Amino acid sequence: MPLTPVLTKRFGTEAPWLIENYLALQGYDGLKKAITMSPDDLIAMVKESNLRGRGGAGFPTGMKWQFIPQNDGKPHYVVVNADEGEPGTCRDLPLMMNDPHSMIEGIIIACFAVRANHAFVYIRGEAVHAIRRVTQAVNEAYAKGFLGDDVLGTGLRFDITVHGGAGAYICGEETALLDSLEGKRGQPRLKPPFPATNGLYDAPTVVNNVGTLCSVPYIVLGGAEWHKGLGPEGSPGTSIYSLSGRIKNPGQYEAPMGTTLRELIEMAGGMSRGLDLKFWTPGGSSTPLLTTEHLDLPLDFDAVVKAGSMNGTSAVMIFDEGDNVVQAVLKWTEFYEHESCGKCTPCREGNYWTAQILARIWHGEGTEADIDTLLDVSDNILGRSFCALGDGATGCIMSSIKYFRDDYLELINKPAHTLTGVSA
Ligand SMILES: Cc1cc2nc3c(=O)[nH]c(=O)nc-3n(C[C@H](O)[C@H](O)[C@H](O)COP(=O)(O)O)c2cc1C
Ligand code: SF4
Repeated sequence: MPLTPVLTKRFGTEAPWLIENYLALQGYDGLKKAITMSPDDLIAMVKESNLRGRGGAGFPTGMKWQFIPQNDGKPHYVVVNADEGEPGTCRDLPLMMNDPHSMIEGIIIACFAVRANHAFVYIRGEAVHAIRRVTQAVNEAYAKGFLGDDVLGTGLRFDITVHGGAGAYICGEETALLDSLEGKRGQPRLKPPFPATNGLYDAPTVVNNVGTLCSVPYIVLGGAEWHKGLGPEGSPGTSIYSLSGRIKNPGQYEAPMGTTLRELIEMAGGMSRGLDLKFWTPGGSSTPLLTTEHLDLPLDFDAVVKAGSMNGTSAVMIFDEGDNVVQAVLKWTEFYEHESCGKCTPCREGNYWTAQILARIWHGEGTEADIDTLLDVSDNILGRSFCALGDGATGCIMSSIKYFRDDYLELINKPAHTLTGVSA
């Protein structure tokens, strides 16, 4: 479905990361409008817009902001989750590299709405280029008076601190991120209490994804009704789909929520090797696999859950008939085994064992009983782990066995190196 770009509208224009160029294209107009409203009205508007968090869980943003207690005498914080470690996901980095000021504008609006004066941007540590780009943009915003004392005559002070992440996938989980930001080892906290009441430094904190905050200035400018008109009612707006794998033109494609894989493949120029689609992830490696029968499924938070998966981060990884599903699942499981923080037994031990079993199946040393063991171990991780990393690790295993049990059996009966058409 063709779309007038919203989040990516400045991509490809002259140095869009510089504040002068940003200002020339409606930059900071959303903030100027926001400060004419009351914080409560602003929260109501974001709530009414039905914006749902782009970090993976799709939690309603306005509701999250509303949970921040008022007049509690505590400092409030906004924390931006820019850790982006989910395999296949590449949306926040392009946003920060091309259009860092739209995130900064969204952050200042969020601070104003939840009565916070200080925000922290936690950027994936390996992404030094993005840390530099955002730091430069924050400095420009201070120089122009959008940050610092008496922002736009409000009498309010807003500060942003850019923080390089600790280099672990788990530091993207919001409470592990908060611990990491406080200088501790990044491991998830027990919830409740939730960050809305006991977040950074035990104070009320909003944690939002980069893409969520980048959407905010457009909602303030365009209004809740305009936003609701983009995509399905339950999860409107646009999303940047990261398309990778066996397609002709991998990359970032902005499209309304609810776009189908068939449409996305068409936008990306079709399949790359002349082979048919076999399996794909709708939103990163932690979302259960889908197949050709889901080509026309609207990719939004509700429809994808109904189909047995999750919209996640809109990271669509596409595999064709030449790819081996067991090999892909082994690679993802090795990732989860490596990234498990070790705090809880089901995830720490379970991912160790599923990786071992998948490796032996892939190397032609598996048995049929291994398939049942994989399902049994996954069942002991799912819903029994301390955080969602454990749950996410089981998605590709369980769904691949559901849809492609025969591929497992083929490997069990025939070593991988004798199979034809298997790509390494
Ligand atoms: C293991 C794990 C990794 C995560 N990584 C990220 C991440 O890199 N970026 C992100 O925004 N959310 C990530 N999340 C989700 C966050 O915990 C949280 O839901 C999100 O930052 C909330 O922002 P939103 O409401 O704007 O979506 C991760 C969750 C888990 C369990
Ligand atoms: S599920 Fe995994 S990552 Fe999460 S707390 Fe347990 S061991 Fe750590």
